[in-house]
Amino acid sequence: MSSRDRDWDGVRLHVVTGKGGTGKTTVAAALALALAAEGGKVLLVEVEERHGIAPLFGLDSLSYAEREIAAADNGGTVYALAVDAEAALLEYLEMFYGLRRVGGALRRFGVIDFATTIAPGARDILLTGKVTEAVRRRTPQSARHDGPGPYVYDAVVLDAPPTGRITRFLNVTAEVSGLARVGPVRDHAARVIDVIRSPETVVHFVTLLEEMPVQECVEGIAEARDAGLHVGGILVNMVRPALLEDSVLAAASQGVVDVAALTRGLQAASLPDPSRLAQELSKEIVEHARHMRVAAEARSRLAAAGRPCYDVPFLDDGVDLDGLRRLACELRDQGAV
Ligand SMILES: Nc1ncnc2c1ncn2[C@@H]1O[C@H](COP(=O)(O)OP(=O)(O)O)[C@@H](O)[C@H]1O
Ligand SMILES: [Mg+2]
Repeated sequence: MSSRDRDWDGVRLHVVTGKGGTGKTTVAAALALALAAEGGKVLLVEVEERHGIAPLFGLDSLSYAEREIAAADNGGTVYALAVDAEAALLEYLEMFYGLRRVGGALRRFGVIDFATTIAPGARDILLTGKVTEAVRRRTPQSARHDGPGPYVYDAVVLDAPPTGRITRFLNVTAEVSGLARVGPVRDHAARVIDVIRSPETVVHFVTLLEEMPVQECVEGIAEARDAGLHVGGILVNMVRPALLEDSVLAAASQGVVDVAALTRGLQAASLPDPSRLAQELSKEIVEHARHMRVAAEARSRLAAAGRPCYDVPFLDDGVDLDGLRRLACELRDQGAV
């Protein structure tokens, strides 16, 4: 193990949220690989039947059964699990009431429909219940040792619902109090709440350097904080390098490009039709400069949120396992995990 400081040392549940399409699943997968990179066992979980993780790891699908999906550096392993509310309910009934093979009967009575579609609070707690169970799970201790055994997973990464729903999703208390005031359901809820409120759980926000995702990110952070959740870092996804010097960018963002100089340069490089090429290139330069200006504004808004920010580079060749490993290295180089 290295002794360097990592910002989220001690965190065992990393919840990854963000506006839809900003790269939650991609970043959650990279984070899981990064966390496993020093020989750890990490569980990557998705909820709500999104089926986003499997293709990233070259698999057809995941199921309600934890399986190994990738080896990380130095002997680490990433496992994955897709949690659906119905399977979680059956497991829960079996665990607490010793009900086996009740699935068919319950389905006929419509209980599962109730839990999975009618009562959103019940549905959420079935999902968070399974996730937090994995966080708390320990290996059985051998008879010679006292006390609890070591944790099965060093960390769990949750590819969570989007920013608009994350606080309600994690805010188990209010939703469940109406469901059961006593008994195993209440106790189950209490254990879920313990994990979610613990400093070992943080909520990370994925964003792009664009206006709407940044807006959602900043609002989401404030809302999560108000709800008493621990806000983790801001993962800035799809970061592209600046291709031009600041002075050139500043001018180009105002639409000013030295087309004559560009033409001479292209001519010197013996490129065909240099003046037309220079015209076309100058449009792209202006576009790039505007993008960089929006990105810089977005960064200063994010800085005001007062959370550590990490850059996740844009992968030109698309997202595959090699790309995810590169992103994991970047996160580690920035001291995230
Ligand atoms: N860093 C990145 N570089 C290149 N493409 C990315 C990156 N992150 C995400 N993508 C692509 O953006 C799309 C949305 O990403 P995804 O992780 O599925 O987002 P979400 O889970 O938030 O909906 C996918 O096509 C994905 O391959
Ligand atoms: Mg996704």
